[in-house]
Amino acid sequence: MSTDSLDQAAYDHLWMHFTRMSGYRDSPVPTIVRGEGARIYDRDGKSYLDGLAGLFVVQAGHGRVELAEAAYKQAQELAFFPLWSYAHPQAIELADRLADYAPGDLNKVFFTTGGGEAVETAWKLAKQYFKLVGKPMKHKVISRAIAYHGTPQGALSITGIPDAKKYFEPLVPGAFKVPNTNFYRAAEISGVPALGEDLEAFGRWAADQVEAMILAEGADTVAAVFVEPVQNSGGCFPPPPGYFQRLREICDRHDVLLVSDEVICAFGRLGTMFACEKFDYVPDIITCAKGMTSGYSPIGAAVVSDRIAAPFYEGTNYFPHGYTFGGHPVSAAVAMANLDLFEREGLNQHVLDNEGAFRATLEKLKDLPIVGDVRGDGYFYGIELVKDKDTKATFDDDESERLLRGFLSKALYDAGLYCRADDRGDPVVQLAPPLIVGQAEFDEIEQTLRSVLTEAWTRL
Ligand SMILES: Cc1ncc(COP(=O)(O)O)c(C=O)c1O
Repeated sequence: MSTDSLDQAAYDHLWMHFTRMSGYRDSPVPTIVRGEGARIYDRDGKSYLDGLAGLFVVQAGHGRVELAEAAYKQAQELAFFPLWSYAHPQAIELADRLADYAPGDLNKVFFTTGGGEAVETAWKLAKQYFKLVGKPMKHKVISRAIAYHGTPQGALSITGIPDAKKYFEPLVPGAFKVPNTNFYRAAEISGVPALGEDLEAFGRWAADQVEAMILAEGADTVAAVFVEPVQNSGGCFPPPPGYFQRLREICDRHDVLLVSDEVICAFGRLGTMFACEKFDYVPDIITCAKGMTSGYSPIGAAVVSDRIAAPFYEGTNYFPHGYTFGGHPVSAAVAMANLDLFEREGLNQHVLDNEGAFRATLEKLKDLPIVGDVRGDGYFYGIELVKDKDTKATFDDDESERLLRGFLSKALYDAGLYCRADDRGDPVVQLAPPLIVGQAEFDEIEQTLRSVLTEAWTRL
């Protein structure tokens, strides 16, 4: 198709995700045609730094021929077979490998095609597990404010973003929300000013809110707690020291499953294969997807402990759940090749070696009047924008609309940086580049943000 026909067809036929389509009636959809390393290219050949690894996905970078070849080879050998009573070596080997990477007794892998399905799977599994062990009332779930866990109706119930849910209510009942670990706004969230000065005490308080919710709902009705190691929505909230250890104790005390939603954080985003390793806790289930193949083919998984899987392996019991494309042979083969590449190139170690430099480079932006906070871990950062640094006052709806939607996203893109300005919580710029980048790209990100955010400030 010619450029003009592509633009017209995009508006006429391609319904984009989480996108205001009206914005593309008169202006073309940005169209990316190629990627190489940490850079992507539009159809005019203009290059952009991929500051978001596509969508927290392309860990190994773009244009990796060996991943394309793994897909090509597998499609020739066995393009498709399901995991319904039959298996194929690619899914078996990948499950074995994920079990090796996972901590504790997390040894059983249930494949899906993406992250939301993995979350959906984990909730269904938790519900059925408690029925099988004679605690049939345990079915509710607890998750955190502003957290995103996917769009299937169960996963959307677990999601804590009111705007993402409101049109689809009533959703699956039984999902309750507790505060997240946004330390920048700890005093505001907790109503206790002293917690804004004491990270560990804030972490204890935040974990205790989970226990309070379990008790308020009745421990004999609560099945699971879903948390991301570092919460993405709202702008990268790392866990305070001790938070996950306390959460683990609380879950154990009340026989509630701890689900670590690592759809973003696994596969090197924080410098470890699974992110619970970074913060030293062992969940009952890990949900993961995105980076498993670096995006060269879709796949997701729920990695489940032997303890939780045990009753499903008894007698006539089984888990009546699955997906045609779950654990697709091509995706599984690509995942194996991707994980080989991780090992060979030491991608996790590269992130661990460079995360301090990434943080230090981004923190330079704190001298700008619009930058309230820089937070994150590994290669995963959020930069919170404020209109008054002293009071931490955020933007009203109108200002957010003008600043984020009307100016920032496009200005960053025009300046050669693909990333996201997000206002699902307080307004943030999200950064999660491919794991192959180093100081040169950190500097490029910092300089582009500096010039665009300086301009944004003058427009307020
Ligand atoms: C933490 C988390 N859980 C679940 C999902 C849903 O994953 P998917 O879009 O693959 O369904 C996402 C997507 O960004 C996510 O970040």
